[in-house]
Amino acid sequence: MKTISLFNLAIILCFLGCTPTIPSAEKVAIIPAPNHLKIESKEFVIDENTVFVIPPSWQQVGNYLQHFVEKGLQLPLRQLKNAQTNFIQFHLDSQIKNKEAYRLSIATNSIHIHAGSEAGAFYAVQTLMQLFPTHFESPEFNKKQIAIQCLSIEDAPAYAYRGMHLDVGRHFYSVEFIKKYIDMLSRLKLNRFHWHLTEDQGWRIEIKKYPKLTSVGAFRKETLIGHARNKPHQFDGKPYGGFYTQDQIKEIVAYAKQRFVTVIPEIELPGHSSAAIAAYPELGCGIRPVEVATKWGIFDDIYCPKESTFAFLEDVLDEVMMLFPSEYIHIGGDEAPKANWNACSNCQKRIQQLGLKDSHELQSYFIKRIEMYLNRKGRQIIGWDEILEGGLAPNATVMSWRGVKGAIATAQQGNPVILTPNSHCYFDYYQAEGDQPLAIGGYLPLEKVYSFNPQLEALTAEERKHIMGIQGNVWTEYMPTSQQVEYMAFPRIMALSELAWTSQKDHYGAFASRAMHYSKRLKTLNVNVAPHYFNLQPKYQMNHGKLHVTFDPTKYNLPIHYHTGGNAFSLQQSKAYTQAIPIDKTTSLFASICTTDGKPIGKPFQTKIYPHIGISGPLTINPAPSKKYDSGGTMAIQNGVLGSKRYGDNEWLGFATNAKETIWLEYQWDRNKSIKSLRTRFHNAKAHWIYAPTQIKLYTNKKDKAIASYTIAPNTEQIIEVLWSFEEIQTKHLYIEVIPFGTIPAAKQGAGHLAWTFLDEMILE
Ligand code: ACM
Ligand code: ZN
Repeated sequence: MKTISLFNLAIILCFLGCTPTIPSAEKVAIIPAPNHLKIESKEFVIDENTVFVIPPSWQQVGNYLQHFVEKGLQLPLRQLKNAQTNFIQFHLDSQIKNKEAYRLSIATNSIHIHAGSEAGAFYAVQTLMQLFPTHFESPEFNKKQIAIQCLSIEDAPAYAYRGMHLDVGRHFYSVEFIKKYIDMLSRLKLNRFHWHLTEDQGWRIEIKKYPKLTSVGAFRKETLIGHARNKPHQFDGKPYGGFYTQDQIKEIVAYAKQRFVTVIPEIELPGHSSAAIAAYPELGCGIRPVEVATKWGIFDDIYCPKESTFAFLEDVLDEVMMLFPSEYIHIGGDEAPKANWNACSNCQKRIQQLGLKDSHELQSYFIKRIEMYLNRKGRQIIGWDEILEGGLAPNATVMSWRGVKGAIATAQQGNPVILTPNSHCYFDYYQAEGDQPLAIGGYLPLEKVYSFNPQLEALTAEERKHIMGIQGNVWTEYMPTSQQVEYMAFPRIMALSELAWTSQKDHYGAFASRAMHYSKRLKTLNVNVAPHYFNLQPKYQMNHGKLHVTFDPTKYNLPIHYHTGGNAFSLQQSKAYTQAIPIDKTTSLFASICTTDGKPIGKPFQTKIYPHIGISGPLTINPAPSKKYDSGGTMAIQNGVLGSKRYGDNEWLGFATNAKETIWLEYQWDRNKSIKSLRTRFHNAKAHWIYAPTQIKLYTNKKDKAIASYTIAPNTEQIIEVLWSFEEIQTKHLYIEVIPFGTIPAAKQGAGHLAWTFLDEMILE
């Protein structure tokens, strides 16, 4: 008689009795959100019997999906010409005119993908992949079956150009990382990779005809330590560099193509060219010796527009065009100081010969000449918005980075525009308050990225048609590693992708929840995504003469908990926020957004509030602060809260005054106040064109002489503190006059421009 071991018995019983448990379908949280989504009640189960039906011309995208599923389930799956049940079928649908649009329908026994081209099918696949479990691509995933939510989606992009940029000049990243970056973009339905390949600090593309561009230009002798505005500068003493060979570039372009990403190379001219001039000094004006730059900033060493320089650039562009099939070649055009051209006899002769007015027109000539060359070869140029100055090249596309002014001017001229305003698309800016890895400056939380409206209101509907799309930029001065690039790019790329793709904006809280969900996928792919989703910002109001703090729980559709006192947010100490919080003495305030079941999420908010005389009366400010830097309104300087280290936060007010203008703050109270001191702070980030004022004065009547005045000595501190005591003033009316620095001196960044003034809380006591 055969004996059955206990082990075999267990297996047999299991076959008879247990149905394997399939985890229920992942929640539907797609980024970018599809334009039309209908969720059904059932699920489709993918298992070893699932087959693929793929038209021969779509094998690439079909295999991409099949490989994804097989790898996750660790199962070989089949392709068939037809299938009756349990299949995923692609359909070439000529009714779908937009090449990137698709329809996805998931029923209990089939998944159908309809698209007019393989690109559309690829985006359907990206959507489908986001319906798989978040850890599906983790090496630990060990299930042989998964359930997918039944639903139907109709989707198409809002914009044709959906881009991300990466600067590999300031820091160099491996081929593997460039591929990972492109892969991450494509998963978010971004379709352009703007590869910034040449910089002052390094030339990163092999050009066969000019080997010194890489043997010399790709390497710098050392690198700045810390922030460029911390002076005196210190250097690490370590040679640094690298470049991509032409073979590697071809490999990357092919990799991107499989993901429907076009790689747009940027070859900067005439500025940001120190590395090329270090390699071939005859390309410059010969004003001074040039080395591959070792610090960050804007350099005077730009190409000299000699015939031999154009011949060089045409040779370089010939090799670039051979490597990059992209219709568009980015030629830079930004931040090209004219000091050398003004001092160069060659350049001056050129200006005369060509009958030009000045160096700005010479830059325009430079760009137009390069455009003509590229147009003759069937390519188009993209340039940063400086290419508008001195006259736009006829067919150029402008990338508007200094806000949207350049975009408006370009669209009004009828040329194509790509939106990449530094106010919303510069992912090298800080994304959160408090401790963050060193960054260039600015403040751009996820929520602000998401708030951008690419349908610029200043344009007519007709002019808006010139907006090709939107792009996020990653300048890497302060990103020495690819992990740091990921930290700065994610999650902000997610907001960008949704602005670029989805026509209808979601509630921010709902978007942020989807972004947090997507970050789980990114983590299984080893992406170092930053944890900053919510930016809990209070508002400050005077009610019946008392300062109140309010939060807006509807903004995120989630409860907010808070407490006063203590050293850190404590859930036990907190209560749910329901109404304005009165503040009548110096108070520490802590608050956090919580899940509906009461768990704090994101980084808690904390601040210290010092009520003082200045908060208690109407304040008028003349001239008004710049729209770009007035997010806190007048309350920024009369709510008892100091600004952070960053001038872009809600507690600083920034002013771009005219040459002779001074800034007037006018307080009015209903009864006399006695005031004997003013404490305040001024930002002094000279690299950012921000200078502390030179003087502040007090008046009780604007027409009379000042009753007290305080001089601010020049200083290298980034934030200057003023602790000013004066003879007691009894008044209902006080004017503070702030005298801005004025014109930025020669040899400083922004020389010749008017300095910005940034004011912090004016603490009157
Ligand atoms: C730029 O940020 N200089 C285009
Ligand atoms: Zn010159």
